[in-house]
Amino acid sequence: MGREIDRSIKDLNTFGIDVTTHEYQEFTSVEELHDIFKDINTNWMVIGGGSNLLFTRNWEGLLLKSAILGVEKVGGDDKSQLLKIGSGMVWDDFCAYACNSGLWGVENLSNIPGSIGAAPVQNVGAYGTEAGDVIDSVIYFDTKELVVKDIKGSDCKFGYRDSIFKRELKDRAIVIYVVMRLSLVANANLAYGSVADKVEELGGCTLQNIRQAVSDIRNEKLPDPKVIGNGGSFFKNPVVDSGKYRSLIALYPTMPSYKVGSAYKIPAAWLIEQAGWKGRREADAGVHHTQPLVLVNYGDATGAEILELSERIMLDVATKFGVALDREINII
Ligand code: EPU
Repeated sequence: MGREIDRSIKDLNTFGIDVTTHEYQEFTSVEELHDIFKDINTNWMVIGGGSNLLFTRNWEGLLLKSAILGVEKVGGDDKSQLLKIGSGMVWDDFCAYACNSGLWGVENLSNIPGSIGAAPVQNVGAYGTEAGDVIDSVIYFDTKELVVKDIKGSDCKFGYRDSIFKRELKDRAIVIYVVMRLSLVANANLAYGSVADKVEELGGCTLQNIRQAVSDIRNEKLPDPKVIGNGGSFFKNPVVDSGKYRSLIALYPTMPSYKVGSAYKIPAAWLIEQAGWKGRREADAGVHHTQPLVLVNYGDATGAEILELSERIMLDVATKFGVALDREINII
């Protein structure tokens, strides 16, 4: 595919930030990647669904996007099926495919914006499930050695919105396929919040009902990026040690929390709301009114304005609670 020069990327990022990339190229094969990287002399970056990036300036280098599509059955047994999925496929199209095919494992991840290729990088998660739970392996192009490599899911160091692709393999690996093992046997995970109730209301525990329930819950709370620009959760939920937790809960007895090992995860949404930021808007940059973890672009906000808003929120939360918020969104 050809290379475009000085292209607007407003349509390539869900925040709808209007900046340009100096060069843009979609790739459909390893051969193309090989050609691009054999004598590259410019900054490069891969964009997926553009749902986890905030551009604060024009991108002066090469922006790459996977157009490797398709789902291929590559193995399995009487309990599971192994599928190899192109990194350019839209994540939710794959969730729909899996739910329609009687395959369990990604139904709780329905309706998440983004691409298949970004899922292992970010270890996307929602409603008690993470992509890493079903990823068998990741096939990637190593841009230094110019070869295709295969890494087992168990070696991807999946953590909370974290993986090896954000660390050791950052700026080196380009995901070309993700291999997932989905279950042929029902194994619903309805433990999170109101999912079980919604599924019951819809008529019981089927893949379609779980997919519908999760989509409904998301639509109630989260702004649709096609309507209001946003990148999903802007911050991660902070984890504090038990000493810090005890001092906070003494001051704020109604503070929600989830125990993780010996530490506690506190919803950033709660901290931001308590700090008075829920629903606030400054020019076209704002804090969403039903899910304050999400920062939004009401139209013409710049990336710098949204970044500045996030910094002020982080400062207020640190001052009020002594808790450091960490951004989930990548700032460019
Ligand atoms: N809350 C408030 N005020 C609000 C909204 C929420 O105090 O206005 C508190 C409530 O106590 C609520 C808690 O926050 O129980 C948790 O809220 P929610 O269930 O909406 O989930 P979250 O922790 O805010 C995380 C993920 C979401 C994911 C949901 C569901 C992170 C950073 N975010 O949000 O992921 O969809 O759980 O699993 O972990 C994303 O990463 O882009 C994303 C949307």
